[in-house]
Amino acid sequence: MRNFVSEKAALLQPSGIRKYFDIVQTMPDAISLGVGEPDFVTPWDVRNAAIRSLQRGYTQYTGNRGLPELRELISRYLRERFGADYPPERILVTVGASEGIDLVLRAICETGDEILVPDPAYVSYAPIITLCGGVPVSVKCEARTGFILTPEALEEAITPRTKAVIFAYPNNPTGGIMTKEQLEAVVPVVKKHDLLVISDEIYAELTYGGKHCSVASLPGMKERTVLLNGFSKAFAMTGWRIGFVCAPEEIDRAMLKIHQYAILCAPRMAQHAAVAALSEGMSDGFASVEEMREEYDRRRRFLVRSFNDMGLTCFEPRGAFYVFPSVAETGMTGEAFANGLLKSERVAVVPGSAFGACGEYHVRCSYATGMAQLTEAVARIARYVKSVRENGGERRN
Ligand SMILES: Cc1ncc(COP(=O)(O)O)c(C=O)c1O
Repeated sequence: MRNFVSEKAALLQPSGIRKYFDIVQTMPDAISLGVGEPDFVTPWDVRNAAIRSLQRGYTQYTGNRGLPELRELISRYLRERFGADYPPERILVTVGASEGIDLVLRAICETGDEILVPDPAYVSYAPIITLCGGVPVSVKCEARTGFILTPEALEEAITPRTKAVIFAYPNNPTGGIMTKEQLEAVVPVVKKHDLLVISDEIYAELTYGGKHCSVASLPGMKERTVLLNGFSKAFAMTGWRIGFVCAPEEIDRAMLKIHQYAILCAPRMAQHAAVAALSEGMSDGFASVEEMREEYDRRRRFLVRSFNDMGLTCFEPRGAFYVFPSVAETGMTGEAFANGLLKSERVAVVPGSAFGACGEYHVRCSYATGMAQLTEAVARIARYVKSVRENGGERRN
């Protein structure tokens, strides 16, 4: 029989995150700092809204774009929290931000179009660009600049084939953010080369020591920005699969067609839950989001201090729920370190190389894990680092 799998699909590499997650599942005593998923359960008022939705028999499709009341609330939420002004008719409710990433790339990519991707960044962008016929091009982001996109690095990566650039801040895996001033510094480059910005702001609520600035709120940027966001992270709603995308009119129309054919609509009960998450949040100042954010912040400070105490340089993340320490001091790559740590101390972290070549000597640790587990994980990591040092370090591989 012939091989039915397309070349593009066959060439895709499995996600470096999942690999560790799968191994950990087979080790009952392992501690996983591997997966980027809140350890909190969705708050009860949100769960109750979905229960009520089911009790009332709301089990049908919604309109393709999503429930009007949800889009009204998203519109208000974006305006009030982030100064991004999108009317409800320009908001498309998606199956997580993941669907938004897929939609926008399918809507814009022609064969050979180059899309700039910060390195390191979330694992999904490059494979989806490739599946859409585009070419992912890395933009080097370094610890010394806080892993931001600089105008110089951006200029260097741009060619006549460049169509769009992904902004992924707050960043997974580094926790780096881009301030208003840092965004303003790259805007002229974006405009000069007439690029589209795809801004993945899924961690917008999770910042520490300053509010998130959306690139869509900057003058002249809404018309060249596709804004992605969702409920998974800040609202602890990963399993509900609910997100949204806001785009300039032509791109919005193209995405809606793809969404109509490929998905139809996001799950109705999840949309009802999202309505509750936003309306509750707006009435109590997003108290439950704030409570979770404060707990993440406590863990973040603990981890940064612990890694630096171990002698592993740890950049201070200002967003999301990851730390991204360098393990170069041990003489090991992130991959060798993660493998050794899992084998000898049963702690799972993700090699930084899973997020791009710039992450080679880093590992990503998620602090979406309770403090007791984190404390035990830190003790085990410290023991591992000590044993590596006592054995004279390991060869770089
Ligand atoms: C940067 C980033 N974007 C998007 C996603 C996917 O989010 P969703 O659950 O809304 O599909 C993730 C999940 O880890 C992420 O880290």
